[in-house]
Amino acid sequence: MVGLPARGKTYISYKVSRYLTWLGIKTHIFSVGNYRRKIAGLNLPHTFFDTNNMEAMKIRHEAAMMALNDMIQWFFKEEGTLVGILDATNSSKKARAWINQELTCRGIQVLFIESICDNEKVIMSNIKDVKLSSPDYCNRDPKAATEDFMKRISHYEATYETITEQDLSYIKLINVGSQYIINMIRSYLESRIVYYLMNLHTRPKRIWFSRHGESLFNLEDKIGGDSGLSPRGEQYALKLPELVKQNIGDRPLTVWTSSMTRTIQTARHLPFPKKQWKALDELDTGVCDGMTYDEIAAKYPDDFSRRDEDKFNYRYRGGESYRDLVLRLEPVIMDLERHENILIISHQATIRCMYAYFMGLSHEELPYARIPLHTIIELKPKAFSCEEKLYKVDVGAVDTFRPKGQKSRRLTNDTFVDSSIPLAEGASGEIADANTSILPITPISVTPC
Ligand code: SIN
Repeated sequence: MVGLPARGKTYISYKVSRYLTWLGIKTHIFSVGNYRRKIAGLNLPHTFFDTNNMEAMKIRHEAAMMALNDMIQWFFKEEGTLVGILDATNSSKKARAWINQELTCRGIQVLFIESICDNEKVIMSNIKDVKLSSPDYCNRDPKAATEDFMKRISHYEATYETITEQDLSYIKLINVGSQYIINMIRSYLESRIVYYLMNLHTRPKRIWFSRHGESLFNLEDKIGGDSGLSPRGEQYALKLPELVKQNIGDRPLTVWTSSMTRTIQTARHLPFPKKQWKALDELDTGVCDGMTYDEIAAKYPDDFSRRDEDKFNYRYRGGESYRDLVLRLEPVIMDLERHENILIISHQATIRCMYAYFMGLSHEELPYARIPLHTIIELKPKAFSCEEKLYKVDVGAVDTFRPKGQKSRRLTNDTFVDSSIPLAEGASGEIADANTSILPITPISVTPC
């Protein structure tokens, strides 16, 4: 990362890390600020960041070296495709040349991401929303903390050099998505990151997910197929416009469905523009399409247990795995990052994948996420977390959740019963928070190349 303080570098690091982790690429953020806090403590005054403060400069340099060393160690310790994100200002040509040299000489490709912003309002809101709650300013008066932070920024401004080095790979993000400058992108992975960054916006938004109403196949405990709605599924479709009005309000929604009968039927009474996405179709269960779990366990016992061992990677014969599904859904995620006011009516597995992206679920957790029928899930992405609310409608449905190691799914044929989610009256919601964390830092030294 490159950029002055309060330019959203940590937010960008976090979003890129979440996106790549979701795609299955091991990603880790190395925050120089965390190392500096570890060495020098909390609540440092702005004078610590004055480049004429030689004692502090030594500490800051040490923090930067420790972060880079740890990142290099991590690259050599872990396997597979890895992305390390060095979250720091890296605001001089000299600092960037050093980082580039240390990494390229070890065969590690470097992409610089610079965030430039001269919009005072955006900077101030970043300071208020993120910086004042950082450990640097714990228990400080917000006015005094803001003043101190503005002075800290001015110390950085005194020596800041924007990237102009033509021999480096970089993307400059200017004023949150209004302009991009891209230089020397060399690999597929770099181009994916650049493409993702170009879709990223910081406007506050909400996203709504609903599974289709209960289907005829759900009643028979069968997976796959393209059946229509059960009578209770029809009731859900009829009640959906009211559920939306009560909880989402009068905003102009666009409804995205899959290309399958049950989602199209579920959406048909909603008075909004609709778009069908093939990418939102349910996980392809290949030769198991139309079978019950008991039938699959009897006919393909090995497959059945392999799926339980590693549900994310298990691919149905002639069908798909959750890993395949994540790749299929990537364009939908890109579009969701770009758009606002989208209600997606899709399927259990597809919603699990999209939900996991926003909630930061691991690949182990993803295939077991609870996505109940006859419920709208509202997600409100925040800077470093995602808020969740559930709006249920009072129409019973089968519970299609199958816990690990169990053949038959639990069927509840009268009222909706799901012990993990409190049942709200009518169509009100419940809130659950999800936060992500950064791995602990273990300082280690690196041998020079
Ligand atoms: C920090 O100490 O917060 C970051 C150090 C830097 O990148 O300048």
